[in-house]
Amino acid sequence: MLDVQNVRRDFPILKTGVIYLDSAASSLTPEPVLQSMLEFYHQYRANVVRGVHHLSQKASEEYERVHSKVAEFINARSDSEIIITRNTTEGINTVSNGLKWRNGDKIVTSILEHHSNFVVWLRVRNQHHVDVEIVRPREPVRRGVLDPADFEAVIDDRTRLVAITHASNLLGSITPVEEIAEIAHDHGAYLLLDGAQSVAHMKVDVRKIGCDFLAFSGHKMCAPTGVGVLYIREDVMGEVEPLCIGGGTIVDVDLDSYRLEETSSRFEAGTPPIAESIGLGAAVDYLRRLGMENIEAHERQLTVQMHEGLAGLPQVELYGPEPAEKIGVTAFNVGDLNPHDVALTLDVSANIMVRSGHHCAFPLTRQVIRRPGSVRASVYFYNTGAEIEKLVSTVSDLVAAMNQ
Ligand code: ALA
Repeated sequence: MLDVQNVRRDFPILKTGVIYLDSAASSLTPEPVLQSMLEFYHQYRANVVRGVHHLSQKASEEYERVHSKVAEFINARSDSEIIITRNTTEGINTVSNGLKWRNGDKIVTSILEHHSNFVVWLRVRNQHHVDVEIVRPREPVRRGVLDPADFEAVIDDRTRLVAITHASNLLGSITPVEEIAEIAHDHGAYLLLDGAQSVAHMKVDVRKIGCDFLAFSGHKMCAPTGVGVLYIREDVMGEVEPLCIGGGTIVDVDLDSYRLEETSSRFEAGTPPIAESIGLGAAVDYLRRLGMENIEAHERQLTVQMHEGLAGLPQVELYGPEPAEKIGVTAFNVGDLNPHDVALTLDVSANIMVRSGHHCAFPLTRQVIRRPGSVRASVYFYNTGAEIEKLVSTVSDLVAAMNQ
């Protein structure tokens, strides 16, 4: 069980009284993560893998250790399957630009995707002779639940890649990824998972799932901004051309040729985000100390409370599945109010931070929400039942004011 009050002491920003329900956009950063980065700047600030002096050696060691920590966190086979990126988007773009597309290839994705795991595939379709097939959730579509049978129906031997979200950033629905991995592999296709909303909130095991690529962001899992991860299964790595090459990616260069590293470092061109990566390593340690099972259980409890509270209010329309089938994001609208007005009211009247609008998911918003947008409240392990109660009562007051 989580000792939430104790955990909250690690987040100085919470002492200001803010109710932060926007962790799906970006999480808060705890003190131990900030301290790990300060330690780097105070004690061993130097470049990595580019110096024999002891500061560079120490920085390199710490930077390399981040790869091992992340590998262990997601149960990768080895550190060399872990590539440090800027964020989920960069990881997905590495794959979309790096695979050598063949005429007639097919990409299967879904309507639930964040733009970052959608527009890249449309661009591949526009640039190559490749088809893109888009799977829709089962009825009622607004639950946002994907069915493996619908993937079975469209994945065939032409399918090169299935690219789907592990959990929807708007509806929260969790994708049945293991079943889809099996179907993809039966047809020789790769599975790419957008783990931006899952890795921070549940135990993600790449070997159990059987995915070939997993992209996620540090800033949604207590690490700083500017650092993310792309996992590529070891035996697929050779299929992907790096997005950038240059310093740090090279074994040898001559006047008319170069040879890239065989390992994942050929994807990490230029000086990497060293302090941010060290912060990511500390964030992984932090989450492991709390326990992903504890985080998941606490968030589920808050999500049930939020779902039930909001569902009980007149004129509040909820989207997405029941709490048992989703992560801790809850999307809703209040009457005919513009979602941005609702979000601003929550901020101004109760110091509650939520996201509003299309949530970088235009196709899903148009087809499922059928409104210009929605309000999204998202929880993390540092949120409390009292905060959820405050959200529900503030929305309730808003509904009352609307009807006056
Ligand atoms: N992908 C982030 C979100 O859903 C920014 O809000």
